[in-house]
Amino acid sequence: MLTATETLDARLIEKARNLKKQKNCLVLAHNYQTLAVQSIADYVGDSLEMALKATETRHDIILLCGIRIMAETAKLLNPEKKVLLSHAGAGCPLSEMKKLTDLKILQNRHPEAEVVCYVNATIDLRAASTVTCTSGNICRIIAALDKEREIICIPDRNLGNWAAYKTGRDLIMWDGYCSVHDQISAAEVKKVREKFPGHLLAVHPECSLEVCQLADYVCSTSQMIEYAKEHQKVIIGTEIGLYRQLACHYPEKELIPLSTRMSCADMSKTDLEAAVDTLAGELNEVNIPPLQQEKALRSLERMFLLLEK
Ligand code: 13P
Repeated sequence: MLTATETLDARLIEKARNLKKQKNCLVLAHNYQTLAVQSIADYVGDSLEMALKATETRHDIILLCGIRIMAETAKLLNPEKKVLLSHAGAGCPLSEMKKLTDLKILQNRHPEAEVVCYVNATIDLRAASTVTCTSGNICRIIAALDKEREIICIPDRNLGNWAAYKTGRDLIMWDGYCSVHDQISAAEVKKVREKFPGHLLAVHPECSLEVCQLADYVCSTSQMIEYAKEHQKVIIGTEIGLYRQLACHYPEKELIPLSTRMSCADMSKTDLEAAVDTLAGELNEVNIPPLQQEKALRSLERMFLLLEK
């Protein structure tokens, strides 16, 4: 006998299947999304993987289940497709902590500097940057840049501190952060490690440098999934949705969340119903003005070029 939630979910999943076919729509879901939302997705991945996946298909519509900056990356790489964001209010506080005017102040002080912009930033900031990076490739991007040039690295100070530590480069930063990851202290991590001495610890580089230095592996969400597949006992140091996904797919493993407080309110805005309603009404279409599209795409494409070096 199915519970009321399971019956509703089954109905919604069936509805999503029909709508996807009828509208020729590809559904992408981020690794942090709920299992119910992931169940209607054609592809589940990290921010960049989702956007790249869409470039490989001939769908007319992309429904991105996640947050706005991710849907914008999908739009940058798929300008001819209609891109829908699963919930109108799913933003990213980190991306909006500082404005273009703040970057201009830094650029006036350092006019020759490269501007490395994390993909979790507004389109304005990405369009004003010289290269985009992701959590999984920031160290490779920084290491590939001219040693003689100054580097401004925005908007996440933790990601910047991690990249500076790993590459030995001085980075000019501001103090943006993701509150979900930044709230975890080194003292808290030490306690968890003492409680589970046989476990490996993987953390996202949006955690503070002190926390990253206590980890066995610092990585993007998809890299963390691969790490959990390879090891039996892992502490999962990122948004709780990733732990839930892994615990469900690998019940035989001994996986532990670093903290159950690591819950992102914006990621949680999308549930199965919101995703299906968005698709049914073709709501929350993402549009990027042409000039910003051109500049932000150039910055993203430079990232691909530097990765080939
Ligand atoms: P990933 O690109 O590693 O999936 O990170 C997304 C994110 O928003 C981290 O909080």
